[in-house]
Amino acid sequence: MKMTLTAIKADIGSIGGHIQPSQRVLETVTGHVRQHQKGLLIDWHVSYTGDDIAILCTHTGGVGHEGVHKLAWDAFKAGTDVAKDQGLYGAGQDLLKDAFAGNVRGLGPAVAEMEFDERTAEPFLFFAADKTDPGAYNLPLYQAFADPMTCSGLLLSPGMFQGFSFTIMDVSHVEADRVITLNAPEDLYDIAALLRDPERFVVESIHSRQTGEQAVAVSTTRLHNIAGKYTGKDDPIMLVRVQGSFPATGEVLAPFHLGAYVAGFMRGSHAGPLMPVRQNTGTSFFDGPPIVSCAAFCVHHGRLTSPVDAFAHPYWDRIRDRISDKATEIRRQGFFGNAMLPFSELEYGGIVKKLADLEERFTVRPPETQ
Ligand code: F6R
Ligand code: MG
Ligand code: MG
Repeated sequence: MKMTLTAIKADIGSIGGHIQPSQRVLETVTGHVRQHQKGLLIDWHVSYTGDDIAILCTHTGGVGHEGVHKLAWDAFKAGTDVAKDQGLYGAGQDLLKDAFAGNVRGLGPAVAEMEFDERTAEPFLFFAADKTDPGAYNLPLYQAFADPMTCSGLLLSPGMFQGFSFTIMDVSHVEADRVITLNAPEDLYDIAALLRDPERFVVESIHSRQTGEQAVAVSTTRLHNIAGKYTGKDDPIMLVRVQGSFPATGEVLAPFHLGAYVAGFMRGSHAGPLMPVRQNTGTSFFDGPPIVSCAAFCVHHGRLTSPVDAFAHPYWDRIRDRISDKATEIRRQGFFGNAMLPFSELEYGGIVKKLADLEERFTVRPPETQ
């Protein structure tokens, strides 16, 4: 059976700053989906990570389905009305356009979706991150799909011996999608050369070279490309099909133990370690640290099981302690050097005016005085 998994997320307002949405807003979004899904969805699940609410749903309408996207857009609109009524902070923040136009892409919410033939058993993972951007998934995906030091299946599972193809987007290109597809293992160094720059090159999807099946879909929205100014980070979501000819669940989760420094954190302007957290966790220290949650599901004829919280296991408690230390350590460095992002990432924020004002106060010494 051809099935579509669609995940759409937005920040539509939160309690106490950019920490987490209110129960009433969550209930409104869920209630709207429940009320209007008939004839459109097979199943759905609403969750939050930090200040972002995600609607995960199953249907047979294919990717970019207008009705499904409109349902999510309207649910976020309804949630925004409640967020405004409650005086929540940043109410409607990610709904950047007034009117729905066929698809939520380019309107603010982030989308990750894929259509596939359901396997007899169809396990998949739904990741949601806050206070970071889509490039945050570059390294974990590289390690899970191309590095036998992390993914033993590349050596042990014949279904994976041909490797995977990575479709990578140049998100600096505003006018249209600029993409390249590279094959692991032969293009490994080229893949690494692009993925090392997560603010510019972002994994959009990954396919099995053995079966042609899609394994991964990542949201690649850059809000500042849409808004032309800083309106919050692009807090990415990701769907990953696992097991069989794809990496095992544990191989996909394993790279997150690193707590790699990613862009985001306070005001979307700093480097911070990506901390794997339980479902429905807010943010705190320095509006962070950047967090990522993972819900594991099986889907059968479009029906979702209840989710298993992949980062709730005791193993991750010590990992979180270590990553907290990494967060504290880099924050000791304040605004200096690598602790704050380079100008190219800040150029949509207020620092542009500050530097422009300072331009007038610079003087160039006459050569004879030098
Ligand atoms: C980052 C984020 C927060 C805000 C910060 C300032 O994505 O959401 O770190 O940038 O709390 O918020 P404003 O500018 O709304 O006061
Ligand atoms: Mg926010
Ligand atoms: Mg957010």
